[in-house]
Amino acid sequence: MSALAQESEGDVVVLDKLCKRFRGRAGSADIVAIDDTSFRIPRGATVGIVGESGSGKSTLVRCILGLISADSGRAEVLGVNTVGANEQVLRSLRRRAGIVFQEPYEALDPRMRIGDAIAEPLRLHSTLASDQIGDRVGELLEMVLLDPALRTRFPHQLSGGQQQRVNIARALATEPELLVLDEPTSALDVSVRSEVLSLLVRLQNQLGMTYVLVSHDLPTIRAVCSHIIVMYLGRVVEQGTVDQVLGSPSHPYTRFLLGSALSLDPDVKTAPPETRPTVLDGAVDRRGCCFAPRCMEAIPDCSTTVPVLAHRGSPSLVACLRAGE
Ligand SMILES: Nc1ncnc2c1ncn2[C@@H]1O[C@H](COP(=O)(O)OP(=O)(O)OP(=O)(O)O)[C@@H](O)[C@H]1O
Ligand SMILES: [Mg+2]
Repeated sequence: MSALAQESEGDVVVLDKLCKRFRGRAGSADIVAIDDTSFRIPRGATVGIVGESGSGKSTLVRCILGLISADSGRAEVLGVNTVGANEQVLRSLRRRAGIVFQEPYEALDPRMRIGDAIAEPLRLHSTLASDQIGDRVGELLEMVLLDPALRTRFPHQLSGGQQQRVNIARALATEPELLVLDEPTSALDVSVRSEVLSLLVRLQNQLGMTYVLVSHDLPTIRAVCSHIIVMYLGRVVEQGTVDQVLGSPSHPYTRFLLGSALSLDPDVKTAPPETRPTVLDGAVDRRGCCFAPRCMEAIPDCSTTVPVLAHRGSPSLVACLRAGE
């Protein structure tokens, strides 16, 4: 499968210099949520996007799908540029590119029965007659391992794990080619998380979709994804296959994330990795590497030169002036 930087015929997502700022509070600088980001996602890949809270993961996937408007650059999804696209274009794309959000209950209309919630995208985007829609709702419930009898229930009558399965069924209703999952399991109990994740893996194998999975959790990414993108304050700092990035991490921030994950694992006796304390702030000075103020390996050039993503003697693409030294 091609890498995230190589052009291929079957790319499902092509980002080119995407930028998104939010206005800062009165008197403070704008927040740069996405900073000049470019990558490609080949068909059939499962791409994990990781980074600490505030690194721009949700903004990135929302800009990709046109749910919020990027300021500049291109975001081609299945051949459609979503930057500046009108509502009609985005509506027809929604059939082919779905999203599942973190909070299962908030994504559902509390007054709508489960069966109607799953039927809604079919009514909007398909030409199926009502009895065919009813059959398809039953099929979708079975596909996400829910009893079709649950179709008459309201969202509050289901558990969090069941609600998230309904959201997945809704997203699958129109047979999308791309499914974006923004922290789909982080609001669920630990015991239910792995069930929902294995369901997602099984569905991908069965339906051959491309996934973009946003997650804080590196073990999840390792278990589920083929590729990984590591973000820090709106920039991609490292990207490649999961083996390349997690097997031999080349950016100090990736090593920090891996070390932090290990230090939380009760089976591994490791001290948390060292960084300089800082507040993650999208309004940071962007003339150099955004991670430099925290980085124990930074040299003076790191504060004045923006490192571009490149192979620097590393298997992955890495944005660090010191990589490969
Ligand atoms: N609507 C908004 N208005 C102003 N600032 C915003 C808005 N949405 C996001 N931001 C800011 O943009 C930056 C990136 O936020 P984003 O939600 O994309 O991060 P994230 O990586 O998804 O974090 P988390 O892991 O907590 O979900 C943050 O500094 C955030 O405060
Ligand atoms: Mg988020």
